[in-house]
Amino acid sequence: MDILVSERITGPAMDALQQQWDVVVDPELWQSPGELQRRLADARALIVRNQTQVTGELIAAAKGLEVIGRAGAGLDNIDTGAAAKAGVIVTYAPRENSISVAELTVGLMLSLARKIPAAHLDTRAGRWNRKTFTGTELYRKTLGIVGLGRIGTMVAQRAAAFEMRLVGHDDFVDPESEFLRETGIELVSLEELLREADVVTAHVPLTEETRGMFGERSFREMKSSALLINTSRGEIVDESALAIALDRGEIAGAALDVRSSEPPGRSPLDALENVVLTPHIAAFTHEAQERVVAAVCRDVSAVLSGGRAVNVYQFG
Ligand code: MLT
Repeated sequence: MDILVSERITGPAMDALQQQWDVVVDPELWQSPGELQRRLADARALIVRNQTQVTGELIAAAKGLEVIGRAGAGLDNIDTGAAAKAGVIVTYAPRENSISVAELTVGLMLSLARKIPAAHLDTRAGRWNRKTFTGTELYRKTLGIVGLGRIGTMVAQRAAAFEMRLVGHDDFVDPESEFLRETGIELVSLEELLREADVVTAHVPLTEETRGMFGERSFREMKSSALLINTSRGEIVDESALAIALDRGEIAGAALDVRSSEPPGRSPLDALENVVLTPHIAAFTHEAQERVVAAVCRDVSAVLSGGRAVNVYQFG
């Protein structure tokens, strides 16, 4: 076998890949790590989304593995250090779904501010409660963007159209950078951002530094009217602390597209009216998926043909 695909990844580029190479697609394989390891022994390439845990052990056991293709931007499910050590190339799609993630973030911000999902459910149940669903405007409110990479910047550009004030926090952005002047983002400390923002949105990768970064303390620092949006990685939010903070009114609402465990199972968040939950769909638009799958199939195929991949993750 040339390529093993352990999650649901479809589209014209995947069809073309199957014409060219011996590809085995098993969308549920990510759920059986032992079986995955056994099947990978024969493969030259592995293509995954975010659910397959590509551990150091798995990589070390896959003696013929040349390339891992990640159909998405986040690499937290791949032991990139182990891949580098084993000489396995990691290709991914760092830009291809950014617009879709930024657009869903804006959608969630409006959903929370205008209570759209709750109003929809109530109206569909036959009621007409206009007053109950009085919301808040985004106009002249402060948007706090944690993580000013590609997606954070795209969210800022879109929020500027609502005439929001933009504050951002990112340890890796130079306060003198031209980019801040161009986007109108005021760079602040995380504490200041949490204190001042009416809406806080997170666009950071999952690392040891960001894991649990939104917890009890952050919620206490935020305004009681503040809304939290997470379309990055679930593990950056302490969900139990969030449920308590929402229940006590320490913050006003939260929208989570990502969860600390996916699928999450039942949670105290399910019962809260000021919460909007979606099943990690930020990158799931037809356009983004076509770009993501095309990029990863192109790069895996290039490596297997002895050529160069375009989006190669450089470890370290
Ligand atoms: C990404 O990291 O690209 C998105 O969160 C979607 C995904 O994980 O597949």
